[in-house]
Amino acid sequence: MSENIYHDSAIKHITGESVYIDDMLVNEQLLLGKVYFSRHAHAKIKKLNIKKALKVKGVHAILTAKDIPGENQMGPIVHDEQCLAEKEVTFIGQAIALIAAENAEAIFEAEKLIEIEYEVLESVLDIETAIAKNQLIAPPRKIERGSPDEAMKSSPHVFKGELRTNGQEHWYLETQTALAMPGEGKEMMIHASSQNPTETQAIVAEVLGLQKNEVEVEVKRMGGGFGGKETQGNHVAAWAALLANATKRPVKIHLFRDDDQIMTGKRHRYLSKYEIGFNEKGQILAYKVEFNADAGSSTDLSMSILERAMLHADNAYFLPNVRIIGNAWKTNLPSNTAYRGFGGPQGIAVIENAIDKIARFLKKDPTEVRLQNFYNQEPNIYTPYGQKIENNHLFKMYDKLIVSSEYFKRRKEIEIFNKENEFSKRGIALTPVKFGISFTTSFLNQAGALVNIYTDGTVLVNHGGTEMGQGLHTKMLQVASSELGVTPDRVKVSATNTSKVPNTSPTAASSGSDINGMAVKNAIDIIKSRLLDVVIPELDKLNSTTETSKENVVFEKNFIYDKELPGKKIAFDDIVKLAHFKQVSLSSTGYYRTPGIYFDREKGQGIPFFYFSYGMSVSEVEIDTLTGQHKLLRTDIIHDVGDSINPGIDKGQIEGGFVQGMGWVTTEELKWDKKGNLITHSPDTYKIPTVNDIPKIFKVEILNDVPNPGTIRRSKAVGEPPFMLAFSVWLAIKDAISAVGNHHFEPDFSLPATYEVILLEAEKIKKNKKQVSAGILVSKQ
Ligand code: MTE
Ligand code: MOS
Repeated sequence: MSENIYHDSAIKHITGESVYIDDMLVNEQLLLGKVYFSRHAHAKIKKLNIKKALKVKGVHAILTAKDIPGENQMGPIVHDEQCLAEKEVTFIGQAIALIAAENAEAIFEAEKLIEIEYEVLESVLDIETAIAKNQLIAPPRKIERGSPDEAMKSSPHVFKGELRTNGQEHWYLETQTALAMPGEGKEMMIHASSQNPTETQAIVAEVLGLQKNEVEVEVKRMGGGFGGKETQGNHVAAWAALLANATKRPVKIHLFRDDDQIMTGKRHRYLSKYEIGFNEKGQILAYKVEFNADAGSSTDLSMSILERAMLHADNAYFLPNVRIIGNAWKTNLPSNTAYRGFGGPQGIAVIENAIDKIARFLKKDPTEVRLQNFYNQEPNIYTPYGQKIENNHLFKMYDKLIVSSEYFKRRKEIEIFNKENEFSKRGIALTPVKFGISFTTSFLNQAGALVNIYTDGTVLVNHGGTEMGQGLHTKMLQVASSELGVTPDRVKVSATNTSKVPNTSPTAASSGSDINGMAVKNAIDIIKSRLLDVVIPELDKLNSTTETSKENVVFEKNFIYDKELPGKKIAFDDIVKLAHFKQVSLSSTGYYRTPGIYFDREKGQGIPFFYFSYGMSVSEVEIDTLTGQHKLLRTDIIHDVGDSINPGIDKGQIEGGFVQGMGWVTTEELKWDKKGNLITHSPDTYKIPTVNDIPKIFKVEILNDVPNPGTIRRSKAVGEPPFMLAFSVWLAIKDAISAVGNHHFEPDFSLPATYEVILLEAEKIKKNKKQVSAGILVSKQ
């Protein structure tokens, strides 16, 4: 039974009661921390003098690399990231020194008095230069099936092209923040804004030279993470911990918005090269793609993200002959990192763009070409990495969406509109998404929980997942409430804490509710089986004729009864009290690991995903060819979430993910100057979507009657997949631009399609200068 109970913070957010780190009440000992960072993309540090700065009144500590008691490193997987730069800086925004002071004035004063001399070195600021210099950050990856070279040669038509997908700033409303509080002896307590408290604990322990059991990390909630706090929330925690350790006082670091944008990594920009072979029907016969990721200055999660891009190169389409190559290149920019979709969007963009070109070339409706290539039936249901596609909802969704969105009727209306209007053009597109659920690093697919029942019958749930606005805690509360048969008001979910549930995986890969939900259920199953020994004799007392069997005991709405005697109920509270008197433990841990998944990176083969989530969208846009402005007129979405645990929250995720994706494909543009300074580092130059950008007509439907086998309450993950529904906006814009030249010319298109891009493309087509660089047709006729 799904229920639309409120997000646990809904009312608290509106009243301002929700506590974020910056709202936490600390004592008068609290110091503020700030990071002094590099102003050069690549330079040697010739001199660093903090003596004058240290004398500023109110300054308690200024730390540099040599003051780190433990290891000077904060790389999450590969240890290639210094916590504070020692001799050399490799990007603008890299931390060099840390300041702790009583107030902001003292910090700013001290910052000005730090003396530094650099010897500027040559920097690499784009993918092309990194490729030319062969700056691979790790060995290339490959996934291959069939004979892509031969199949390409024998294909009737072949397109060759390039596609650039730009990066994306996370723009979580709460910037990177941490509060570190020293305890007795070496103890360190961290209030972190981190998707990965366990890794925050590990890195704080490393930089301080402590054991993990001396560091406790707690995450109440984040004001958004979106992948940006999967690894990079650790940095600010490590810096705050260093200052707290040095001053023996609580220290809070809360990055300014502009500093956050300058210092932290973003979605990876990709330069992708492809070749696609197809026949008259639009059937894809061969596909070769090479992804080139801008990793930034260190590895961070680049290789896992690249892997997911490669595993999503197919999106929803069967590719009989395919070669997927992945390269990640080192540049002098902040290390790029996880962002909703985790490489999936970069992988999917290329094939969606290619399919659109095929359709335009064959003068077919792109939806027909898509339908033609969907994974369908044996033998066309194996991904390039060998996983079989089961419970495919693509056709069901397509049939529904084509009707509910009135796609073909509107396509005709658009044609008429475009004939009648010289300067305004409309376009429409349908795009699907198939997204693999599970961490592709298989061991991460595990979770833990701790469930306590108190003697008044109330329940406290703790689990390894973190709350970042996605509603995970609310869903976990619902799982506990339904599994234990108590009403939701009896259940509370407490802050994620490394001392309650240890060794957790990050809350990422959309798997939060899947894995933590199962762990919560496991803990409850254990407690229930203990309670049964207490319950059954009590039920037998009420029932003189037969004996109650375990299978017949029902826990429901704060009562327990034998399903054959529903009239005779015992209150849950009474059983709990009795259990306590009978010396039965009312607390248990729970554990879960996802069964049956693995991936062989060498071979590029395996079953990396427990299942796939599906979605489909249709968007219609109008562009103004005189200004380049676009308006999103209407979007229809159908999305698959299995049996929803909370349809209200799921709908929120679908809408939010779509809108965030829309920002990436349209207005959000990262630009750097020639020295590697991010020019778009504040909300006035970096345009994220606002309420006005949400489509005027926005119809979101959750696909009905598609229970997902083997997951918690037959639900599906929902956090990331809807992001990729936004490709329909991007391709609708392309369709509208193409209408400027009556679809005779192929727009040379990049992502994002900013107003500037739209204007310039429309202008070029108007002037009848055909561009082909984005998709050279290797004509075989
Ligand atoms: N929704 C909100 N409101 N805020 C967020 O930070 N992060 C997204 C998604 N939805 C995010 C969000 C990302 S990147 C992921 S991986 C998932 O939520 C993580 O949570 P889940 O696994 O519980 O879905
Ligand atoms: Mo989400 S990008 O997996 O944190």
